[in-house]
Amino acid sequence: ILINGGLFVAAYLLGSIPIGYLLGRWLKGVDLREVGSGSTGATNVLRTLGKGPAAIVLLVDIGKGAAAIALVKWMYSLGLLASVAAWQPWMVTLAGLAAVIGHSKSIWLNFKGGKSVAASLGILLAMSWQVGLATVGVFAAVLAVSRIVSLSSIAGAIAVSALMVLLHQPLAYQLFGLVAGLFVLWRHRSNMQRLLAGTEPQLGQSVPQTT
Ligand code: G3P
Repeated sequence: ILINGGLFVAAYLLGSIPIGYLLGRWLKGVDLREVGSGSTGATNVLRTLGKGPAAIVLLVDIGKGAAAIALVKWMYSLGLLASVAAWQPWMVTLAGLAAVIGHSKSIWLNFKGGKSVAASLGILLAMSWQVGLATVGVFAAVLAVSRIVSLSSIAGAIAVSALMVLLHQPLAYQLFGLVAGLFVLWRHRSNMQRLLAGTEPQLGQSVPQTT
């Protein structure tokens, strides 16, 4: 139980790594929670700091999500969790959700953060690369047409549940898709309002001041 609990704490802390915030502070002296969309994710880094920092944030956020899942799988491969081998997909799911929450509600950022899109992608790729790639496909298709990242993220968050079922993933992973998808949708509340109002910025554009 100690190892299990420790794993979830470790997954949450991995998700909490505030790379976007740190780059904002280091490169421009800004608090990303107070500029643009207020998110510490790659999209807000792109509009605030530019392409290079955004690419770094994207990769680190994907990486930390994947690392949370790799950690659980590694513990199983070492035999440290052998007594609960049948629970592996559930352990992976719970660690994934801990990392998703860590990214959006970081312990280092007064429980603020990003919108958990890149972190969720890393988790999906480590959970099931087929589902991860298919979700990227949906995201990329919507982005190519709309040039709006939030709309693409929303489409990916909705599609992931269907992809989990279509690609015959374990029940635990399907549940991850549903819960993480709903969480990501909830994190996009302000984006949805701007989308409905027709004011959501396209890739790299600034967010209207009224928000
Ligand atoms: O990944 C987050 C993206 O979907 C929206 O980001 O900064 O435009 O709210 P942002």
